Amino acid sequence: MNRKFIVPLLLILGLSLSVSAQAKEILIKFSHVVSADTPKGKGAELFKKLVSERLKGKVKVEVFPNSQLYNDKAVLKALALGDVQMAAPSLSKFGKYTKKYGVFDLPFLFKDTKSLACFTGGDTGSKLLTAIEDKGFTGLAYWLNGMKQLSANKPLKTPADAKGLKFRIMSSDVLAAQFEAVDANPQKMSFSEVYNGLQTGVIDGQENTWSNIYTKKFFEVQHTISESNHGVLEYLVVTNTKFWKGLPADIRTELEKILKEVTLKVTAWALEKADADKAKITKAGKAAVISLSEAQLDKWRQAMAPVWTKFEGEIGKDSIAAAVACNK
Ligand code: LMR
Repeated sequence: MNRKFIVPLLLILGLSLSVSAQAKEILIKFSHVVSADTPKGKGAELFKKLVSERLKGKVKVEVFPNSQLYNDKAVLKALALGDVQMAAPSLSKFGKYTKKYGVFDLPFLFKDTKSLACFTGGDTGSKLLTAIEDKGFTGLAYWLNGMKQLSANKPLKTPADAKGLKFRIMSSDVLAAQFEAVDANPQKMSFSEVYNGLQTGVIDGQENTWSNIYTKKFFEVQHTISESNHGVLEYLVVTNTKFWKGLPADIRTELEKILKEVTLKVTAWALEKADADKAKITKAGKAAVISLSEAQLDKWRQAMAPVWTKFEGEIGKDSIAAAVACNK
């Protein structure tokens, strides 16, 4: 063959070989809304690191924190469309896809993170992982953040103190009912808008974990934080079922193994960070941390108790009973 043709031919061949080599590397875009220095942020980074070590050249993970790519509402649509492959929204944000996850939002249902772990690790929790399969999503793991606290621009000691205040909530009808039960006004809002909302007075308060209150600086724009531990923030690591089932079996198995390892680390970080970030907030002295007495907590419990009855039909009485059994 004429040299004139051989060189371009080799170039084309080389190019197509490198394209097909590249095409073999599976890209997992992992999008989330919190800071990198949170249990979920660290978990996503560790997942990326372990995948790059153990599945080098086969799978690459890219992590997008801080709502850089999508907020939680948009990320589920993006996941359905295949624009991202993994996310870990709070279980409070799946109401459009299943009402069953409302169990995680019931006020004062889980006594502490141990009860929560007992529930997610038990039969009911395992079954709930598949509650959104019919919508094209697969739940891969639960990741812990921790117990939620109540913050506001005035001290919140009893439910009467919350009356008339505007609280930011995640997009959950159960959480809306929780605040309505104390005559407050719930406002569904993206996580990325909360700081601004608090600063400008669009909202008076919010509920979140110590690590989110600290890393997103909510404590700088709130007067008080009541240590209410009234609810939990738990995530569902979620993927697109078609994408996941389409992976080569050995790769899927390795990814599942890595996720198990990461999940254990996330739990440890969540517990550590809850204490450490609470201490940092207390030390900063910008928002006063209020501890509530048992009698005060009982008032909140009683005021919010009707929320359980309101949602037991769509959540399932058996699921609530399984959670209650974990409080022992
Ligand atoms: C929130 O919106 O408050 C949380 O879901 C954010 C997060 O992912 O921890």
